[in-house]
Amino acid sequence: MTGRHARRNRRAALLTGLAALLLAAGACVSNAPQDALKPVGPVARQEDHLFKPVFWIAAAVFFGVEGGILYLSWRFRRRSDQDAPKQIHGNRRLEIIWTILPAALLAGIAIPTILTIFSVAQKPVGSDVIHVNVTGHQWWWQYEYTNFKTPDGRTLRTANELVIPTGRWVYLTMTSADAIHSYWVPKLSGKQDVIPNRTTYLKLRSDVPGVFRGQCAEYCGLSHANMRIRVIAKTPTEFDAWVTRQLQPATPPTDPLVMSRLTGTCFACHTINGVPGNAGALVGPDLTHFAGRSSFAGSMFDLTPENIAAWLRDPPGVKPGVPIGEKYGTMMPNYHLSQAEINALVAYLLTLN
Ligand code: CUA
Repeated sequence: MTGRHARRNRRAALLTGLAALLLAAGACVSNAPQDALKPVGPVARQEDHLFKPVFWIAAAVFFGVEGGILYLSWRFRRRSDQDAPKQIHGNRRLEIIWTILPAALLAGIAIPTILTIFSVAQKPVGSDVIHVNVTGHQWWWQYEYTNFKTPDGRTLRTANELVIPTGRWVYLTMTSADAIHSYWVPKLSGKQDVIPNRTTYLKLRSDVPGVFRGQCAEYCGLSHANMRIRVIAKTPTEFDAWVTRQLQPATPPTDPLVMSRLTGTCFACHTINGVPGNAGALVGPDLTHFAGRSSFAGSMFDLTPENIAAWLRDPPGVKPGVPIGEKYGTMMPNYHLSQAEINALVAYLLTLN
């Protein structure tokens, strides 16, 4: 093979590699459920409208400065040993230009940034606003909808999946039960820290129905990466039906095997409203309408019989974490349930829709 051939082959390989990389990047972007650049609600859209011009200004500055460096180092390269750089120290005109230009640029960016910060932080008002108290836990989210209560005064409570109606503001009042978490659903809103002993707020709204993924965005322990979020935006009619269903109590199990496990084990941490022996514990997610959700365990798993069985068999085996009972433990331990118990519990849990 001649040298020219080898060079041509190398160039072809390089181009093929680059094309493959671009294609892969394109494929990733088209399958990105947490893409902040494709907002579906007003808050995320406002933030996107701020990001885009700032990005292009930054890109122009980057290419201007880097291009300038390349051009000037070529244009004024050293041609002989006698070459010496011309000193520009004390050049008033140059110093004024390179002080005023960046200052004006930063001031120009600051104005829309500050306006956006204030607008995004403004609390939505009106009887139409859905108010939700959010509590971050290692490693799941609890939601309490203070607008909706049962006849006996219980607040609508759910976990991991935030169900919202399209076209209405949702105002989250957030705190944490343990570590610092951060609530982030990129298509709907920016991220907001969720801090123990402190209250933070976040508003969001979706204009279209759909499922929008998010995740905890602050490192909070072993299963931080598994602390997912699903926001499920329903049409107003579907949302009303969902609320009505959520306010109903569950039907108690008929299987004595399930009943004894619930009262002897599960109810130490979980609540199933309507089942005798339930003490209202909120260490783990409220399970009253467990099967009405599409996912569980911090939205890490899709809600399928196989996944629930695998979870019951060995929770720390399928999701990393330190089980309760061990020092500083936070997650469900392995109760060494028998296969018969697992089958019976899965069957009962699937009735809790
Ligand atoms: Cu919660 Cu990271």
